[in-house]
Parts: sequence; structure tokens; C-alpha cells
Amino acid sequence: MSLSLVILAAGQGKRMHSDLPKVLQPLAGRPLLGHVLTAARQLAPSAIHIVYGHGGEQVQAAFPDADLSWALQAEQLGTGHAVAQAMPNIPDDHQVLILYGDVPLIAATTLRNLVEQAADGGLALLSVLLEDATGYGRVLRDNAGNVYRIVEEKDANRKERTVREANTGVLIAKAAQLRQWLASLKNDNAQGEYYLTDVITVAVRDGVKVQAMPAPTIPEVLGVNDRLQLADLETEVRRRAARTLMMAGATLADPQRIDVRGHVQVGRDVRIDVNVVLEGEVVLGDRVTLGPGVVIRNATIAADTQIRAYSVIDGARVDAQCVIGPFARLRPGSHIADGAHVGNFVELKNATLGLGSKANHLSYLGDATIGAGVNIGAGTITCNYDGKNKWPTVIEDGAFVGSGSMLVAPVVIGADATIGAGSTINKSAPRGQLSLERGRQQSFATWKRPEKADANERAALIDRARIKEDGSSPE
Ligand code: UD1
Ligand code: CA
Repeated sequence: MSLSLVILAAGQGKRMHSDLPKVLQPLAGRPLLGHVLTAARQLAPSAIHIVYGHGGEQVQAAFPDADLSWALQAEQLGTGHAVAQAMPNIPDDHQVLILYGDVPLIAATTLRNLVEQAADGGLALLSVLLEDATGYGRVLRDNAGNVYRIVEEKDANRKERTVREANTGVLIAKAAQLRQWLASLKNDNAQGEYYLTDVITVAVRDGVKVQAMPAPTIPEVLGVNDRLQLADLETEVRRRAARTLMMAGATLADPQRIDVRGHVQVGRDVRIDVNVVLEGEVVLGDRVTLGPGVVIRNATIAADTQIRAYSVIDGARVDAQCVIGPFARLRPGSHIADGAHVGNFVELKNATLGLGSKANHLSYLGDATIGAGVNIGAGTITCNYDGKNKWPTVIEDGAFVGSGSMLVAPVVIGADATIGAGSTINKSAPRGQLSLERGRQQSFATWKRPEKADANERAALIDRARIKEDGSSPE
């Protein structure tokens, strides 16, 4: 039987107190609705219909995917009314599975089992057994255990409220029947809404088989209404990600203090210290170590490389046996070749550091191609920007750049060249030679340290320093 999915996403999410529609709130770096869609697509449905309302344009813009069709629910008149908005686009012979944009961790395997339950044309709903089901609709069963109704908390009597089997809202039924049942709904209840849950009663009356399948785990059916619930699910996702990393061979200093907001591939014996954040697509080779507070986004780190404390790596490739940090920053387009070292307060952007080269302290290397065996002295800066254009710097193999050098691009430092410390280099430096640009040092034998100036002397000196009317400097 063909399967159509309906995802309800029209709720305002008032309790989030946010300008962002609820289903766009991020969980593990992705919108809630994105998580639901990932599970939904694993069922290979014929169509996915999203019922949208408040902030609808923003939601549509965030999901321009071609496989989605959108149904507007202009007024939120209840879950039954919401599903009805999608029904005109669903053929009679489809099964319709209803999901929620704010229930992000629903598992595809659970949904597959539910679809299976309804394969004979019946109605199946996903329930959950809770210690405390307050706030949820309760699944009512007769003495034989057959489901005959769902009663909302607000409409339930005292006895019904003691029932611990709660409705998750996830439900599957044949489109032809669901269409009729929805059309028959009334809103004469405590909330004045058209309840989707009332289709159960009608289905039972029509002699349709109704089954409630308890969810295998609780987190997968939890919804997000406020930021506390969102944080709880973030904790759950963090726990799952940590478990996956450990099962794949990584050692985590503290499984509760790692955040994975994307997809991480780890080799053997990777060690990850506390408070590491991994985002996007991250690959960590065998025996890579990450120090505390390291942030890595969309990067590949090869075997035996150490990323030391508080380094930030974004859109970079680091080859094997490198040492990066502490406090290093690798920006997009950086490539660090085997055995190279990048030390504290060194920033690279769109720069290659060749085999075994070192930039150990306080440097900016931007738009630079640096060869093998190069030593970049402390405080070296590639002056790549003239205020309008970015220019490249090339440093060939074996060059030695003295500390505090300003390399004014475009410029080439030839192979095995030496740049004397403190030089401002704006002409390319020849291979194998020493290039030096530096004022001659002077010493003044009779010089005395200044005395403390009185107020009048201060005023006079400051006055004399003023730029003149014609813009020229004072004498
Ligand atoms: C609903 C169920 C309840 C179940 C609970 C699980 C009904 C009548 N009740 O209750 O049995 O235990 O979910 O969380 O279905 N929505 C729309 N349009 C609307 C109304 C709701 O799109 O007009 C969406 C909301 O955005 C939300 C979802 O449907 O994602 C559930 O709506 P909500 O009002 O939270 O239902 P509950 O009262 O929690
Ligand atoms: Ca709810």
C-alpha cells in the first residue's frame, strides 16, 4: 500500500517566547522539523505533506526540498482540523501516517512497525507508557484490552486520569476512511477543538480494527513545547552521540561533556577531552587526540595528530602527526601537511603549511602557500589585504622567517631564504640569501629618562602636537 505522511507543524510555539517558529528551533544544530523529516524519509513514502500555519513562509524557506508539499492551516482549530487540511491532496487508497514537527526523535524503526500494524487496513496509533501521563490524552481500553477511545486530559474524569497509557499523537489509517472520519468531527469538548483523537471512537463504531502500540522508548515520543523540554532532548541527543562515538572506538573524558551537531567519523583509539564541540562533517583519524574546549567544524584530521586545548578548526584539513594549538585557529581553506606544527595564537586562513613546517607563536597566515621545512617566527604576519584586494604570499621550502616579520603581499620568499627578524618585506626575497629591512640601532650615552611634567608643561606639549588647519603636521 502507498504511504502518505502528514506532519503537523502549524502550532505557534507560544511557550518558546521566540521569533523563530517552533519547528525551526535547533536541536543538535538542526531544526526540529529536519529531524522528523530524516525519520520520515527512511520510510520512502509517496508524499510528505506538511501542515503549516504561523511563520509558514519562514518554515517553507528553510525546507525548499522538492519532495515536500505544503498545506496551510490558517487558523489552529485542533489536530483533527490540521490533518484535514492535507487530505485533499491524498488519494483514497493510501495509508496516511501522521507525525509532528515538534516531536523530533521519533525513530524510523518504530514508525515501520506501526505501519506494519495497520497493513491489514486497520487503524494503529502509537501510545507510550508513562509514570505520570499528566497533560496527555489517555488511551482507554475495554476489559478485553481493545482500544475504544482516547480521552484528552481536560475532558477526562478522575478514573480516566489514572490511566498511564498516553497517546503520542502518531497515528496511521486508510485515507478514504480517515477523510470521512475527519469530516464527522465535532468540537463540543473542553477545548472547543476538532480533536484528531476522536477518529478512534468513529473507527471503532465503523468496525475498523484499532490497535495501540506502545513506543519502545520514551524520548522518541517527547514533544517540545518550551526551552526546558528542548534542553532535555538536547541532553538525550548528546547522550546518543557520545554512545555512538564510544562504540566506534573513541575514549571520551566525560560522555556528558561533548556536543555533536552533525556527523562524526572516528578511527581507532581517538581520545576526546571535555567540552569539545564537533559540528557538520568531521573525520578524526586513528589516535587523534582532542584537548579540552576544542571546536571542530567540517574538518578532516588525520592519524596521530594532536589538537590541543581551545583550538578552533573550521573548514580545514589537517594531515597526520601534526600538533595544533593550544589556542590555534584554522579557518576555511587551511591545509596543514604531515608533521607540521601550529602553535598558540596562530591563525591560518586559506593557507597551506607544508610538510614538517612550523608556525609556533602569534602569527597570521592568510592566502599563503608555505612549503616544506619552513620556520615561521613568532609574530609573523602576511599582510594580505590592501583595503580593497586580497593578495597571495608564497614561502618556498626551507625558508626561515625571523620573528616579527611583515610580509606585504603579493610577495615570494624564495627557497632557503632567511628573513631577518623585524623586517617589513615588500619585495620578493631571493633564494638562499638573507633579506633584512631594519633601521640601524643607535644608543645615546647622555640620554636621561623624562621627569614628571607639571600641568602647564603638559598643556603646552599637547597644544604643540595639534595637526595644523591646512592638515600639515606641527613643527
Ligand atoms: C495532542 C493529542 C493528545 C496527545 C498529545 C501528545 C489531540 C486532540 N490530542 O494533544 O492526545 O497526548 O498531543 O503530545 O490530538 N497542531 C496543529 N494545528 C492545530 C493544533 C495542533 O498543527 O490546530 C499541531 C501542534 O503544532 C502540535 C501538535 O499538533 O505539534 C499537537 O498539538 P497540541 O495542541 O500540542 O496537542 P495536545 O493538546 O498536546
Ligand atoms: Ca502538545
